[in-house]
Amino acid sequence: MANLQSELLNDVLAAFETAPDVRLRQLLRSLLIHLHGFVAEAHLSHDEWQKGIAFLTAVGRACTPDRQEFMLLSDVLGISSAVDVAKDSHPQATPGTVLGPYYVPNSPRRQPGASLIDTDDGGQRLHVTGTVCSIDGVPIANAAVDIWSCASNGLYPAQDPAQSPTNMRGLMGTDASGRFDFVVLRPTNYSIPMDGPVGELLRATGRSPMRAAHVHLIVSAAGYQGVTTHLFDSQCRYLSSDSVFSTRKPLIRQFLQSANGELTACFEVKLAPQPAVASAAAAAAAAAAAARS
Ligand code: BEZ
Ligand code: FE
Repeated sequence: MANLQSELLNDVLAAFETAPDVRLRQLLRSLLIHLHGFVAEAHLSHDEWQKGIAFLTAVGRACTPDRQEFMLLSDVLGISSAVDVAKDSHPQATPGTVLGPYYVPNSPRRQPGASLIDTDDGGQRLHVTGTVCSIDGVPIANAAVDIWSCASNGLYPAQDPAQSPTNMRGLMGTDASGRFDFVVLRPTNYSIPMDGPVGELLRATGRSPMRAAHVHLIVSAAGYQGVTTHLFDSQCRYLSSDSVFSTRKPLIRQFLQSANGELTACFEVKLAPQPAVASAAAAAAAAAAAARS
């Protein structure tokens, strides 16, 4: 960095040193060092900077209560996955992946083994059997498993009025042995939304918009760090070019043909323990609540 540039950066950093929130100060310091470094390293022209501002403005304008174009931008730049990787502190725990825009809270409660297919489109059925356990292999009873998946046309209920709003969605608990199982339609590859500025970016850079075929799961259990993850189909041809960089080896499964015509897949979810500080705080809160009752 040239002298004038580093003098400017130092002035800017000093201006933010007054922030009373220590973490905010740290984040801004690091962000500003990288942004100023980028401008210097790339010899950013005025015209390029204006174009960048116009692009970010378009991303903001594309956001609505139902669409988060900034999150989509974060996904295709691999930033969402970088945050997931940074959070995955235990190598044995099931890796976290992007949430995506199609998760709808309050999934319908389903019994173990239930079919989540409320709108049958004739696709192949996939029976997923799984377990939730600790990173040491201890089964976790009463873990919550929240599942959502696309129909055979690659669309989620929010994108497809022909589907029941509860199609391929379900919330279930694990049994005493940490087991859960459910039936969905075989997930397919699908394109992320391409009708906004993020789509323009992918087209301008010649990138594929396709997501590798997957089923989504959010798994949580008391005393453990929950995980938002995917189960991927090993036969999918987009595994190595997933448009949001979410494929992780431990999440890929072979779908096997069973005698009744269904496909089957096994999926073990391993949860890391809550960090000590958080679990101590949770224990103290639980003790205080117990004392009050
Ligand atoms: C999804 O898997 O539903 C998804 C994730 C990121 C962007 C678009 C879709
Ligand atoms: Fe998805």
